[in-house]
Amino acid sequence: MTDPVFLITGASRGIGAATARLAAEAGYRLVLVARDESRLTGLAADLGGPGRVWPVACDVTDWARLDGLVTRVRERWGRLDVVFANAGTSVVTSFLGHRGAPPDEWRDMVLANVYGPALTARATLPALVESGGHLVLTGSAAGRGVRPGNLYSATKWAVTGLAQSIRAECVGTGVRVTLVQPGLVDTGGIPPGRAGDPKLDPADIARAVLYAVGQPATVDVNEILVRPVGQDPYR
Ligand SMILES: NC(=O)c1ccc[n+]([C@@H]2O[C@H](COP(=O)([O-])OP(=O)(O)OC[C@H]3O[C@@H](n4cnc5c(N)ncnc54)[C@H](OP(=O)(O)O)[C@@H]3O)[C@@H](O)[C@H]2O)c1
Repeated sequence: MTDPVFLITGASRGIGAATARLAAEAGYRLVLVARDESRLTGLAADLGGPGRVWPVACDVTDWARLDGLVTRVRERWGRLDVVFANAGTSVVTSFLGHRGAPPDEWRDMVLANVYGPALTARATLPALVESGGHLVLTGSAAGRGVRPGNLYSATKWAVTGLAQSIRAECVGTGVRVTLVQPGLVDTGGIPPGRAGDPKLDPADIARAVLYAVGQPATVDVNEILVRPVGQDPYR
């Protein structure tokens, strides 16, 4: 079995699960990563079961588990070709304290959104260098504009910088690095205050990911910004 291997974090639902579906259709073997094992197991069964899809419960902020996972993928399937560092979360914040979650609930978001993709890159890049592979990161439209009082936006600015920093370090390795910046997507990840706004479907972002990954090995799609028609540019 030599089909390429595609690892997705945040694969249990939303954008990650939609990308897993398209990647399975495109012929990849999949490693699906999230914390909710039962959701991952159900999705894995839908997408081809053992031999094609490997569900792995792992918190992306846990370095030892992530690093061990990559070792196991290489032992089991012998290669790793595409990594989608997509896991993330959001809470509403205000630095003036006018709304949202109390500050001691901000930590998990910062860790999942910034430390998580940084560790995912660190754990997987040696294997991607070996395969001449591709790292895709999920940023956000909120990672390129100002959003008042919004720490989530700041974490996604960090992902914008992370993607650029990784790409710069990977020059000469053959590894491609793509930052996907979604506007509002209809998933469990959106704040209740935006329920009435125009939204993308998770599959709209999955197609953008597969577009980047499907380009010739000499083409590095650096960034893709996708918004729903009618999205307010300042939200
Ligand atoms: N929805 C939007 O409008 C939007 C817009 C721009 C960017 N994004 C970004 O898109 C990415 C996917 O979000 P989504 O909208 O698809 O939301 P979602 O439906 O809530 O999915 C989030 C995924 O991340 C996983 N996850 C969260 N924390 C994790 C952790 N510490 N370790 C491992 N897995 C973790 C969740 O699984 P478990 O809970 O099972 O771990 C789930 O699979 C995120 O980075 C988000 O910031 C979303």
